[in-house]
Amino acid sequence: MQPWTLLGVLSLLIAVPDALAVKSHDFKTCSQAGFCRRGRALSARAADAKSAWKSPYSLDASSIAITPNKAVFTAGVKSTLYPDIKFGLELRVHEDGVVRVRMDEVDGLRKRYDEAAAWALIAEPRISQDIAWTAGKKDIRAKYGNNEVVVAFEPLKITLLRGGKEQVVLNGQGLLHMEHFRAKAVAETKTEEADPAPEQGAEDAEEQVVMEVKEPNPRAWFEGDSEDDWWEERFSTWTDTKPKGPESLSIDISFPSHGTIYGIPQHATRLALPTTAGDAPTFTDPYRLYNADVFEYLASSPMSLYGSIPVLHAHSADSTVGIFHAMGSETWIDVAHASNKSTQTHWISESGILDLFLMPGPTPADIFAQYAGLTGTPVLPPHWSLGYHQCRWNYISSDDVRTVQKRFDEEDMPVDVFWLDIEYAEDHKYFMWDQKNFPDPVDMTNDVAALGRKMVVIVDPHLKRTDNYPAFKEASDRKVLVKPPSGEGEYEGWCWSGSSSWIDFFDPNSWDWWMSLFKTTASKTGWTWTSSTTDIHIWNDMNEPSVFNGPEISMPRDNIHYGGWEHRDVHNINGMLFSNLTSKAVQHRTDQPTRPFVLTRSFFAGSQRFGAMWTGDNLGTWEHMAVGIQMVLANGIAGMSFAGSDVGGFFGNPEPEMLVRWYQVGIFNPFLRAHAHIDTKRREPFLLEQPYKGMVKDILRLRYTMLPVWYTAFRETSVTGVPVLRPHYVMFPKDPKGFDLDDQYFIGASGLLVKPITTKGATETTVYLPEDEVYYDYFTHHAHRGAAKGKEISVQAALHQIPLFVRGGSIVPTRERPRRSSPLMKQDPFTLRVALNTKGSAKGEVYLDDGVSYKHEEGQFVWRAFTAEAVGKKSVRLSSTDLAAGRPGEAVDGVALTGYKAANGFAESVRDVRVEKVVVLGLSGKPASVKVEGGGELVWEYTAGVAAGGKGEGAASVLTIKDPKVRIVEGWAIVIQL
Ligand code: GLC
Repeated sequence: MQPWTLLGVLSLLIAVPDALAVKSHDFKTCSQAGFCRRGRALSARAADAKSAWKSPYSLDASSIAITPNKAVFTAGVKSTLYPDIKFGLELRVHEDGVVRVRMDEVDGLRKRYDEAAAWALIAEPRISQDIAWTAGKKDIRAKYGNNEVVVAFEPLKITLLRGGKEQVVLNGQGLLHMEHFRAKAVAETKTEEADPAPEQGAEDAEEQVVMEVKEPNPRAWFEGDSEDDWWEERFSTWTDTKPKGPESLSIDISFPSHGTIYGIPQHATRLALPTTAGDAPTFTDPYRLYNADVFEYLASSPMSLYGSIPVLHAHSADSTVGIFHAMGSETWIDVAHASNKSTQTHWISESGILDLFLMPGPTPADIFAQYAGLTGTPVLPPHWSLGYHQCRWNYISSDDVRTVQKRFDEEDMPVDVFWLDIEYAEDHKYFMWDQKNFPDPVDMTNDVAALGRKMVVIVDPHLKRTDNYPAFKEASDRKVLVKPPSGEGEYEGWCWSGSSSWIDFFDPNSWDWWMSLFKTTASKTGWTWTSSTTDIHIWNDMNEPSVFNGPEISMPRDNIHYGGWEHRDVHNINGMLFSNLTSKAVQHRTDQPTRPFVLTRSFFAGSQRFGAMWTGDNLGTWEHMAVGIQMVLANGIAGMSFAGSDVGGFFGNPEPEMLVRWYQVGIFNPFLRAHAHIDTKRREPFLLEQPYKGMVKDILRLRYTMLPVWYTAFRETSVTGVPVLRPHYVMFPKDPKGFDLDDQYFIGASGLLVKPITTKGATETTVYLPEDEVYYDYFTHHAHRGAAKGKEISVQAALHQIPLFVRGGSIVPTRERPRRSSPLMKQDPFTLRVALNTKGSAKGEVYLDDGVSYKHEEGQFVWRAFTAEAVGKKSVRLSSTDLAAGRPGEAVDGVALTGYKAANGFAESVRDVRVEKVVVLGLSGKPASVKVEGGGELVWEYTAGVAAGGKGEGAASVLTIKDPKVRIVEGWAIVIQL
């Protein structure tokens, strides 16, 4: 968002949000960024030269040093381009098989930024003691398990192999180039006259190539034939001074055995990344990672957006590998396919060292574990934060908030959280309530909290530069504000609050102080937010950072951070530190830490440890609705599972049909929030006419019934890293027909498969069933049968219908009593939907804890497995067992079960919670009896229909067991005698 929208221009746009597209001229294309231009020129030249091209980088075998335990080796690397410049390479293999490759300039004029990994990683990874590097004449290699890493000396090439097959190759195309530090006075331009200019025609280039390859010092191949934007770069009206000179890094990373790649969010594009290079690329610019506040972003584009996670999955039917490049500076990534079975990528970064993690897989689940081992798993959020969040820019007063809450209650629509955008704050000084409209913030919050609800209030990173604002004044006094290029004083830019400054969260001196601001009790040592309560949680926006009068709506790259680093070195990490520290602040504002909820717009690798993100300022268009799903899937596979997009679209006034569809999309996002721009009409769901109002109420209620599924999925991702939303390639890695699917997906391990509708006027759709298994319509219980090689089915999808299926073999726990907010469901009974598979069995689980504290880490939780098994031909036994009991000291899915006791405090608090209904789908015939094991006959009903074990399709047989009087915290079995 930019300020001029407030000047009323937007009111014109609101009606037709697509009338003005993204303001592309605010953002650089690759050709407008000096280092990207140089990097792409290099790949163009190498492509022209074909096999004549040889990388000038080689490893100096005489310098190889292997640590005594043989697990790490270091070696010098040289380039014929600059024989006097030294580089150092280091390779290590971690215990889980991840290979870390680091390269830096040695004894250079300056130091490259090498701390990106320190911000992203949870700990220094443990190095394997089982592998040994062996140096030969031409290479040095290490074999471990089925994997092998080979580092060829000349030219330098690093290959990860599995079963002898190449999986990841670094510098295989010879595009490695680390621009070294140099003194400006040295006239680097006076190189050989024959250097081809990048613009020259292909034929000329061909001739030059031959000449160049013969040249001893073909520098122009890498750096252009002039000092192209080395020391200063202009963009629009801005000049970026570059006191350090050129320091970019180019590296090609190929996946010779993988035809599909996913990841590197955040971009508004398909999950399986379209090409940007090679023959007939989909996009002409590379994918860009440079956190940016892009006004009215395009629904299909490689342009940068608010967050960056440099993580990529390369996938094929028999192998998945991944890479994580710990890089905090602007990075452009070209993607091309040499064939439909291989992928080449080219990474061009502005500064920083090479710090690349090769994740060997071999399955997507392995990659999630390997990536989680590096950067951590997503946080287990407070349970209430999985409910519905009602936001808009802005609820204008505390009475407005109360009225909105009242309207939800009058309509019996569930909601957990009310949000306040920037207008709550006097002059946009965050924390400081606008006294006129919010005279009673604590009472207002208490009124919301009385129904178990919470509030989320925005705190942006720009601090209004005025001494009557304690947050600014204290930051200024402590000297923890980002500095201008001179390195002296305080950087000043414009944002919502007018003239503002930004806290430098890279400075450890800012941390405790920032955390202290969120205390709700008074402190003698500084200002605290006493006009708030612990029911208020936080929204961090504009943390790319967004600077309205800055280059590309952000901070100048030559601004100075703690340690003297330039903003360019840390730009993509910057936003993460703000929300991470805010999350810690909210967590520790009470003596007993409680789970914080912090929503962030900007994020980096590691952000998943601290909270949720959303996809920013989307438009109220069908295209944006659809791409929002793809973006949320992409975030999930890069660790950031707790994600969603603004329901309704931020800009525009969605017609009722669109709004209904958007709620259907929203309830299947991990993070569910409706939000709207200040110039839009009010569109809270209670304002809709019938039948739309009733539809949205049902949709929201559906979300609430499924909270046990969501929470169980979040628990799993919080220990394994496997995302909450699972695209087909994650669930069925061997099925190529699913590799491109990104409009239908599974929710956790629940077996629920959903395909939200994102087209206007739809009445039906097709759904892909990837296996020879029965899939039951969630609502009608119609049994659809897939096929071993995959099959598309047609299903009804009128406005009141959501294509939602239960995969045969699953047991789905729900809570079906409508409530006003999720905390009110704590004692509600459960329903179990048992969807038998073709073999007549099913399984599922549920995880519960108090949802707000950390007592689950001490064993205060309930974690049950449900199993349905055919016993002989004549009966089915359905049982509940404790997943944590009887295994003291053991870890299950990474959760230490030490301290767990079945009768723990939390379990006691839900002791009386029953299973009130069991629905068994696909039984082969009418039961003769249904009993709790060791008990009497239960009350049940049976409707004949298709059996899971048959080949038929149609209405499934349904057995409904009413109130079996079994409790959720106990072991039990129900025997169905056929
Ligand atoms: C940004 C946010 C948007 C918010 C607005 C005002 O545009 O992305 O969600 O409403 O700022 O704070």
